[in-house]
Amino acid sequence: MPSTNDAAPLLEVTGLAKAFPMRVGRHKQKVPVVEGFSLYMQRGESVGLVGESGCGKTTVGRTICGLYERDGGTVRIDGHEVGASREDEALVHKTIQMVFQDPYTSLDPRKTIADILAEPLKVQRLAPKDQWRELAGKAVESVGLKRDCLDRYPFSLSGGQRQRIAIARALICDPQLVICDEAVSALDVSVQAQVLNMLADLQAKTDVAYLFISHDLAVVRHLCSRIVVMYLGRIVEEASTDELFSHPRHPYVEALLSAVPEPDPQRARAKRRVELEGELPPLTDLPQGCIFSTRCPFATKECLAARPQLEECAPGHRVACTRWRDLQLKGTDELVEAIAAPAAPAAES
Ligand SMILES: Nc1ncnc2c1ncn2[C@@H]1O[C@H](COP(=O)(O)OP(=O)(O)OP(=O)(O)O)[C@@H](O)[C@H]1O
Ligand SMILES: [Mg+2]
Repeated sequence: MPSTNDAAPLLEVTGLAKAFPMRVGRHKQKVPVVEGFSLYMQRGESVGLVGESGCGKTTVGRTICGLYERDGGTVRIDGHEVGASREDEALVHKTIQMVFQDPYTSLDPRKTIADILAEPLKVQRLAPKDQWRELAGKAVESVGLKRDCLDRYPFSLSGGQRQRIAIARALICDPQLVICDEAVSALDVSVQAQVLNMLADLQAKTDVAYLFISHDLAVVRHLCSRIVVMYLGRIVEEASTDELFSHPRHPYVEALLSAVPEPDPQRARAKRRVELEGELPPLTDLPQGCIFSTRCPFATKECLAARPQLEECAPGHRVACTRWRDLQLKGTDELVEAIAAPAAPAAES
C-alpha cells in the first residue's frame, strides 16, 4: 500500500473535472459535466452534496471513487495523491465504498445475500474463504437484519431491507468513507428514517465518514454537519449545515431552502416560497458569466460578464456569487414570514 499521512484530511479533492461526449449541433464533443470541484473530508465526518437532478452529483461520487476516470484535478487519501497505479486503485477501494440509489438494480438477483456480501471480501482478498459467512452474518446484523436472510435472494426482501444489504456490502470492507448516492430516495419516508438512523448509529460505532448525495436538503440536514451545494456541475455554496440554513449567501440556495417542507403546518402556511424563473440551461450552452444568471432574480450586467469564483464569505463558508455582500438573503426561519411576534398589548391608560 502507498504510504499515507494520518494528519492529513481523509479525503482531499482539488479541481476535479469530468466531461462526457454529448451531441452539440451535428457533432459529438466532450462537454464538462463537473468542473473545479474541490472537497475535503475528515475522518468520521458527514458531508452532504446537494443539487437538482443532472447537476453532476453522481458523476462526482463515481469519479472520486475511481468508477469514472477523471479529466482533471487531484484526489488525495490521507495525504497520498491517487494516481493510476494498481496500488492506488487498491487504496481507493479499501478506503472508499459507494452505495447506489436503487436497491432493486444494485444487487445481483441471481446471488444469495451471503454470496453478495462475500464478493468484496473475495475480490479485495480481505479474508480467507472460511470466514466469509461469519463476516457476512456480522455485516447483516450490523445493519439491523437477522442472519437468516443470508440464504435468501434480493427479490424476497423489501426495498428497505435491500438497501440495508447494499449498505452492509459497502461496510463489510471496513471503509473509512462511504459515498451514499441518494441511498434512501427510493424508500418510504418511515423506512428512510430507519435507514438514516441506522447510518448515524453505525457512524457513532465505527467513525466511518459519509458523503451523502441527495437532491433533498431536508434529508441531509439531520445527518450532515457540512453541506456542499452544486448547480450545473459547479459548487455554488458550501458551509456548515447550521450556517447554510440560517445565512445562505447564494440566491440558488435561498430558493432551495424555501422549498424545504416545514413539518409544522402553521409555519408551512407562513413560509415564503422563492420561485426560480426560467429553464435550466443545457450543459452544452452555459452562460458566459455566472452559471445561475439565467434564473437569478438579482443578476446584473456584472454577473453576465464574468463567472464568479468560490470565495470565503465567513470562516468555513464559501460562495460563488459576485453579489453576496449586498444581497440580504433569508434563512429558513426568516422565510417563515407571517408568524410575526404577537403584537404587544396596548398599554393601559
Ligand atoms: N455516462 C454518461 N455519459 C454521458 N453523459 C452522462 C453520463 N453520466 C452522466 N451524464 C450526464 O452528466 C450530467 C450529470 O449527471 P449526474 O448523473 O452526475 O447528475 P446527478 O446530479 O447525479 O442527477 P440525479 O439527481 O438525477 O441523479 C447529466 O447531464 C447527465 O446526462
Ligand atoms: Mg445521481
